[in-house]
Amino acid sequence: MADMNHKATGHERIETSNFLMIVLIIVAVAFGGLVEIVPLFFQRSTTQPAEGLKPYTALQLAGRDIYVREGCYNCHSQMIRPFRAETLRYGDYSKAGEFVYDRPFQWGSKRTGPDLARVGGRYSDEWHRIHLTNPRDVVPESNMPSYPWLAQATVDPADMAPKLNALRRLGVPYSDAEVAAAGDAVKGKTELEALIAYLQGMGVRSPQAKTAAAGAQGSAQ
Ligand code: HEC
Repeated sequence: MADMNHKATGHERIETSNFLMIVLIIVAVAFGGLVEIVPLFFQRSTTQPAEGLKPYTALQLAGRDIYVREGCYNCHSQMIRPFRAETLRYGDYSKAGEFVYDRPFQWGSKRTGPDLARVGGRYSDEWHRIHLTNPRDVVPESNMPSYPWLAQATVDPADMAPKLNALRRLGVPYSDAEVAAAGDAVKGKTELEALIAYLQGMGVRSPQAKTAAAGAQGSAQ
């Protein structure tokens, strides 16, 4: 520093002041974040259901809650990324419109086990029954936990109408008839049956996704 009286101006002033630097970084990041995030709330592709996407049935919805309760998301994602290695293994990559009825969504990011976004129809109900009760009976090297209690517990029909109503308030198009029939639809069903109904609906609740998943499976094998 030759000139001790040098007075910082312009950009130099920002770079030599911790305070100014921090404040302006926060402003810049906040602005950039808003520009990226806000349009997503208004774009059709992220707010409208994928073509033909059906809301969860009462039984699938009960299964979804069991999926959340048991923490399956700790090991499984439901989000196929748009990379070739992923689409070859799991099927067509996930689109925002497939998740508009998912509240909250179960995308996840931890993959101790495989992604489940398009697992629907890949195995039989019987395979899932054996697998969930003791994964090692069908996949000997599996480190997935066993969930034997699911076959013993039944779904409470009284829970279902309030659940559908809550989702309806958030915009899921359930009819009065569907809400009224929700309790009967799960009567006597075990938690295992509900969870399997949920898994079998994954990625196949819209006709588009169904053909995409079938295509990818064919070419991967
Ligand atoms: C500790 C981690 C872990 C947890 C928790 C876990 N899984 Fe898994 N899961 C795995 C692993 C590892 C595999 C691959 C081996 C196998 O098929 O068992 C797997 C495989 C699967 C598969 C077969 C996927 C395919 O494409 O082959 C399904 C379906 C599945 N899990 C469902 C569930 C459900 C439902 C739950 C919660 C009730 C759950 N998992 C909890 C680790 C886990």
